[in-house]
Amino acid sequence: MIKPDTIDKIFDAARIEEVVGDFVTLKKRGVNMLGLCPFHNEKTPSFTVSPAKGIFKCFGCGKGGNAVNFIMEHEHFSYPEALKYLANKYSIEVEEEKPTVEQQEAMDEKESLFNLTAFAQKHFEETLHNTEEGKAIGMSYFKERGFTTETIKKFGLGYSLNTWDDFTMKALKHGYKKDLLEKSSLVRTKDHETYDAFRARVTFPIHNLSGRVLGFGARILTQDKKKPKYINTAESEIYHKSKVLYGLYFAKSAIVKEDNCYLTEGYTDVISLHQAGIENVIASSGTSLTIEQIKLIRRYTTNITLLFDGDPAGIKAAFRGIDMILEEGMNVRIVLFPDGEDPDSYARNYRPAEVKEFIGKNAHDFITFKTNLLLEETQNDPIKKAALIKEIALSISQIPEPIARTLYVQKSSDMLEIDEKLLMAEINKQRKERFRKKASDTSSREERRWEPEETEIITGKQLEKGIHIDNQEKELIRLLLLYNDQEITFTAEDENGQMKEFSYRIDEYIVDEIVDDEITFDNTICQKIFDEFARSRNENQWLSVQHFFHHQEPAISSLAIDLTSSQYLLSDQWENKHRIYVKKEEDDTKKIVTEVLYALKLKKLEKKIHENKELLQGEKDDEKIFVHLENLRQLESIKTLIAKELSRIVTQ
Ligand code: UTP
Ligand code: MN
Repeated sequence: MIKPDTIDKIFDAARIEEVVGDFVTLKKRGVNMLGLCPFHNEKTPSFTVSPAKGIFKCFGCGKGGNAVNFIMEHEHFSYPEALKYLANKYSIEVEEEKPTVEQQEAMDEKESLFNLTAFAQKHFEETLHNTEEGKAIGMSYFKERGFTTETIKKFGLGYSLNTWDDFTMKALKHGYKKDLLEKSSLVRTKDHETYDAFRARVTFPIHNLSGRVLGFGARILTQDKKKPKYINTAESEIYHKSKVLYGLYFAKSAIVKEDNCYLTEGYTDVISLHQAGIENVIASSGTSLTIEQIKLIRRYTTNITLLFDGDPAGIKAAFRGIDMILEEGMNVRIVLFPDGEDPDSYARNYRPAEVKEFIGKNAHDFITFKTNLLLEETQNDPIKKAALIKEIALSISQIPEPIARTLYVQKSSDMLEIDEKLLMAEINKQRKERFRKKASDTSSREERRWEPEETEIITGKQLEKGIHIDNQEKELIRLLLLYNDQEITFTAEDENGQMKEFSYRIDEYIVDEIVDDEITFDNTICQKIFDEFARSRNENQWLSVQHFFHHQEPAISSLAIDLTSSQYLLSDQWENKHRIYVKKEEDDTKKIVTEVLYALKLKKLEKKIHENKELLQGEKDDEKIFVHLENLRQLESIKTLIAKELSRIVTQ
């Protein structure tokens, strides 16, 4: 826990142009600086840095933020890692706060587990390199598999002796407590006897993103079918299987560079491909990808290529999981290896250049691949074909990007020899159904990234609600950030019935209106920004947009910058017509603020009415039905009032 004081110092010291300048060549352009965006490929620069405001914004890909956001994004650092990086750059001494007793205990346990796991990794590695048994059995196994000494060292491979307690004794002697040894699952206890979990196995350490060892896979060296091929570290404080990808630590920079990630099934596939010079490769370790793992990959690239060994049943089993990757907006390609080969064996049997060529030539986009594979099976049976169309539509419907969806519709309908419209209709139907389900599922309220965006493909009131509320919430927050210190004036009756002018500062006006109507934001970041405005209103303080640009919560600073930076960065130098637009908004803030506020109120009411109607439908108790109806009547009458007010504002 870094002290808030230190964090302030870091934010104060970090000059955005210097921080970015370490990675991007910047040229002066007016009051701003311009360069080629490091987050997407571009030939003409649209990456803008404002030294005065301390922020960056790419007008090509939309990324924006402050110096800390930049380092987090560019180096794939966590928030504290980014702070420490900047502290180091500006020679600021990092003072850490003393954690609470509970925090300390949790941290101590985690840290001890990390320590023990690192200790185990070293122990197994030494056993492999320096003991007779290690060399004769473990090392010769790796050599037989074609791993070079360099590869073995790089991946930290090891060997655990064929004894019951070699590791246990060593760890105990080193002062590790039995309790901790058990928690790490490196040591097991049965009938009060402790013994090593891995015996006579080679070990593959599993690293986290910063290269610390979290756990192991340990492979058996005999053909004994009664024993599992691999024994893996169990879930622990530090090892969460569903959130880890084998090899990502070694692959991440190559993934960014190649803008593609190869996904294989096993430890040995990763290692062999690495050795063949293909470094952007990771493994899911035998299970299908979890959503957390997909998001992890997405931090580095949106392109993923799945390397399968030639077993159609296995691939079909993976289809559902692949739809999940599509849903994240990733492009999925598939490479099928010849029968009997997997990436590991292929990399062993062919030269590196041949491996690269094979993968390059045999990568097919998933939708085409799936259509082909299933088409082979239908053989013009109309019933099977109808099911196939549904199946393909299901995959395409997961793709969030409308243009990509349209392209796939064209391609697949060609292959299926059906009318594009037919496939499109099926996709729309499936998207609508899913959206309806999601919209009514309150547990996914925060995660409403499934936003149908194209009216041509998706229509229906339901769908629009989801996006508009989010857009309107953001619009209100944008106005709050940009114009909070401006005054607006209303005419109203005072206590004596006299018409009088009342002036409000915009932040006070918005806060009071929202609080009075007990409106909450669906978007949690919007809610947090609003809460800060509300708190400062209570304390009679005033928050500037800069406060949010340099906010210590990265999600807040980047949303604030996202919402406001086009005006902020461009208003000084943008072409005349745009300046006029910005000016016009500034002049007309009263109208814009009231309009956005009332539009949001209306949307919130519509949502409430909709929720009430759903409640009513499910209700059987007469008395409660009456209460619901009464609620609905009230809500509808408020809605009429607000709608009237809104139309008055708009037509004014
Ligand atoms: P494989 O059986 O393909 O193993 O399982 P492999 O790594 O390619 O091993 P070789 O080539 O036979 O030596 C793929 C992955 O599934 C997990 C491991 O992560 C393995 O790398 N697995 C497999 C287990 O966790 N336990 C097992 O018993 C088997
Ligand atoms: Mn294998």
